[in-house]
Amino acid sequence: MLKIGVLASGRGSNFQALIDSLESGKINAEIGLLIVDNQNAYAIERAKKHSIEYLYIDPSNYPTKNEYYTEVANQFKKRDVELVVLAGFMRVVKKPLIDAYPNKIMNIHPALLPSFPGLHGQKDAVDYGVRISGCTVHFIDEGIDSGPIIIQAAVPVSFEDNEEILSQRILELEHKIYPEAVKLYSEGRLKIEGRRVRVLNFKLPDERIINPQIV
Ligand code: GAR
Repeated sequence: MLKIGVLASGRGSNFQALIDSLESGKINAEIGLLIVDNQNAYAIERAKKHSIEYLYIDPSNYPTKNEYYTEVANQFKKRDVELVVLAGFMRVVKKPLIDAYPNKIMNIHPALLPSFPGLHGQKDAVDYGVRISGCTVHFIDEGIDSGPIIIQAAVPVSFEDNEEILSQRILELEHKIYPEAVKLYSEGRLKIEGRRVRVLNFKLPDERIINPQIV
């Protein structure tokens, strides 16, 4: 069974959506370890509640980012983690972890990439005045939110929206597409071709989920 490692920094609602999909049997996989970079992350409470092992690894204890990510990779490897899922992890992952898990690290971003990468995807979309935004699940590479896209989902944006309202609207879809992407991975249905991802036998689970590689 696929073993997943999760990295989170905060609330962990995407982590919870993943837990729920595993527990309901929607995805045939297990979570081997949660690593947080913030000791107050609510994701820890979720791990405790579901008897998932967790570690707080404090970045300030490591002289360099490379040493930090070497330790993160070692902890995942020790537990035979095969896929790493970033669930609201607010740092840019560095080479040692990427090299340990090539094309095996997923991220969710609250915007339709390549628009609005970075830490404030929802606010940037509101401020720019776009009429459609959404969320993106992608594999990570060494850039910021720049790796091959797996699934995207779109939501409308109105003039009255603010960052908070739009974030909530997007989050509902994040909780659908992230487990969906992990499910596809667990079934061996994601094939990276250059910077594009082919999804084998893909059926749209939700009319708002757009996958330009397929349709
Ligand atoms: C989510 O909206 C996620 O897309 C975003 O942070 C939130 C975490 O929520 N991630 C990023 O902005 C990454 N750059 P959660 O902790 O409840 O899953």
